[in-house]
Amino acid sequence: MSSVENRIALVTGANRGIGKSIVESFVKAGVTKVYAGSRNPENLNALVSQYGDRIVPQHIDYNDPATITAASEAAGDVEIVVNNAGMLNVANPLAGDAVELMQQEMDVNVYGLMRMAQAFVPALKKNGGALVQLNSVASMKSFADFSTYSASKAASYSITQALRDTLLDEGVHVVSVHPGPIATDMATNAGLGDFAEPADLVAQSIIAAIEKGDFHAFPDTMAKQIGEAYRSYATGVVEANIMEG
Ligand SMILES: NC(=O)c1ccc[n+]([C@@H]2O[C@H](COP(=O)([O-])OP(=O)(O)OC[C@H]3O[C@@H](n4cnc5c(N)ncnc54)[C@H](OP(=O)(O)O)[C@@H]3O)[C@@H](O)[C@H]2O)c1
Repeated sequence: MSSVENRIALVTGANRGIGKSIVESFVKAGVTKVYAGSRNPENLNALVSQYGDRIVPQHIDYNDPATITAASEAAGDVEIVVNNAGMLNVANPLAGDAVELMQQEMDVNVYGLMRMAQAFVPALKKNGGALVQLNSVASMKSFADFSTYSASKAASYSITQALRDTLLDEGVHVVSVHPGPIATDMATNAGLGDFAEPADLVAQSIIAAIEKGDFHAFPDTMAKQIGEAYRSYATGVVEANIMEG
């Protein structure tokens, strides 16, 4: 896939934050139709008012896996799936409730990705498309106060690598996106608002990665810094075929 123009996309967590920005950037870049996933489709009314029937609301709640299956049946023509929905708890590993908080994050950030991939890969294979996963700089570096979130994003990055390798010869381009702090409710609630950069950077990095065929995308200033330091490991290990030496 060389461009998002004239393609059909699906974005989860589309009602606010990075997901909403991705929907808007996709429409501006010529995506013809976006299935917009939300736990509460009424929260998509603003997008529908603005972009009309190019937005197709879809009920997707990762804590209710039947909604993922139903969405995949309704969106059989999808060519680009953006697994954006995610959650962050503030938790040091020594906190008494850290295990329970991490279980919530694993359910959404990791098992949500696996369920989305299981549901949508058949359509992506048939239509020839892209699967885009919102990982994080926290996939590469743990942050003590976001330790459980970091661990869940390291796990989702690991699953993303497995999906890339599995789908490499199946006509599905997998993209792993690693933002630093981005100006959304998540960053504000985590106390990162002062460092945060605009969500549009993430959307533009996804469009560029799809156009260039890249696996990793590092959208913002902190992400680029980490991406630069990570580059030789990424190409020499993560993206290399180690089995062939
Ligand atoms: N903001 C950052 O600094 C940053 C940095 C790196 C990576 N990321 C990643 O980027 C993605 C988007 O983050 P964001 O900053 O836009 O977050 P956000 O502002 O908190 O929005 C999260 C979105 O995910 C949805 N969501 C949460 N739990 C869900 C569930 N169980 N099922 C379905 N949808 C669910 C939310 O729906 P409701 O509105 O119904 O709650 C909302 O639409 C996440 O995967 C996040 O980890 C964010």
